[in-house]
Amino acid sequence: MTYQQLAITEFGPPSMLALQCANLPEPQAGEVVVKVHFAGVNPIDAKTRAGLGWAAQQNRDKLPWVPGYDIAGEVVACGEGCELPVGARVAGFIGFPLQGGGYSEYCQVPETALSLVPKGVELAQAAALPLAGQTAWQALDKAGVMAGQRVLILAGAGGVGHIAVQLAAARGAEVFATCSADNKAFVAAMGAQAVDYRAGALDSQIAPVDCLIDLMGGDVGLQALTCVKPGGMVVTVPTITAEAVCEKAISLGLQAEGMLVSPSVAQNGAMLTMLAEGQLVLKVAAVFPLDDGIAAHEQIESGHTQGKLLLMMPAAAVEA
Ligand SMILES: NC(=O)c1ccc[n+]([C@@H]2O[C@H](COP(=O)([O-])OP(=O)(O)OC[C@H]3O[C@@H](n4cnc5c(N)ncnc54)[C@H](OP(=O)(O)O)[C@@H]3O)[C@@H](O)[C@H]2O)c1
Repeated sequence: MTYQQLAITEFGPPSMLALQCANLPEPQAGEVVVKVHFAGVNPIDAKTRAGLGWAAQQNRDKLPWVPGYDIAGEVVACGEGCELPVGARVAGFIGFPLQGGGYSEYCQVPETALSLVPKGVELAQAAALPLAGQTAWQALDKAGVMAGQRVLILAGAGGVGHIAVQLAAARGAEVFATCSADNKAFVAAMGAQAVDYRAGALDSQIAPVDCLIDLMGGDVGLQALTCVKPGGMVVTVPTITAEAVCEKAISLGLQAEGMLVSPSVAQNGAMLTMLAEGQLVLKVAAVFPLDDGIAAHEQIESGHTQGKLLLMMPAAAVEA
């Protein structure tokens, strides 16, 4: 049986994405085959498609290459020794950073990469969570965000940002988050004091903070360093500009680190439970059919997505 995937055929604009056929795999020992319902779309997918970053450099001789690190769906076949049953609803952060593969109707993955999706959590929500949620969690851990601290999160309305705001607020921090005027109500609903980045210099709008979670990088990240108290902590998440932001932060007497998210089934499971219990909400801004992935990449590249974007596979349409 064959199925469809969306692949990067050459590095370049979104039009370099094209459907391709693959054969349904036989799972090896410890692996399951997931019939994917939804796959998450993340900025790294578009950067890699454009030929930027480490994953692109490592995969330049492996095109066509199927992007996608977030999947949610149902187990349809199990290799030897697997504990997950056929029919289990699962989600995971797969193939990061070099293998990818999520933009696909079926994925063959180690069962240890997957979490069970609790009853009451939709597969679309579960697909929106892994990469963005774990990045948010790990950025707050790296910054040591704790109760009573003042934390500034840049890009609080985005995929990572709207989760980071909620997790920081749940830790008892006083959270400030930047966004455009249109997103102020959304960011405030997530638990932050929303700061319009176009309404004036950030350091004139907010008193100094203990921690900066920089989800923008580049000039925006550099300019926000003046908002941090002397000796305060900066975690800058976009990898391409991390070195420049850290260097500048350290020259200003701050502590600073970049980061690369590391898949954690434990964190994914904990956040799925939070979703089920209503302690976390995920905003899915738009869902695109797999064969409209070009539009999804155009949207993520706008840099102004509110929450998350998903690709929907035919299996989800059948379920609906
Ligand atoms: N190092 C890692 O392991 C890692 C992991 C995940 C993500 N990342 C990187 O982290 C960054 C954030 O990822 P993401 O998924 O959250 O991106 P995203 O969802 O595409 O972020 C979009 C958001 O950025 C906001 N934004 C745009 N310009 C802004 C500005 N000048 N100031 C404040 N907010 C602004 C937009 O809000 P408005 O529409 O209101 O402007 C929008 O909501 C990306 O560069 C991504 O590649 C790195």
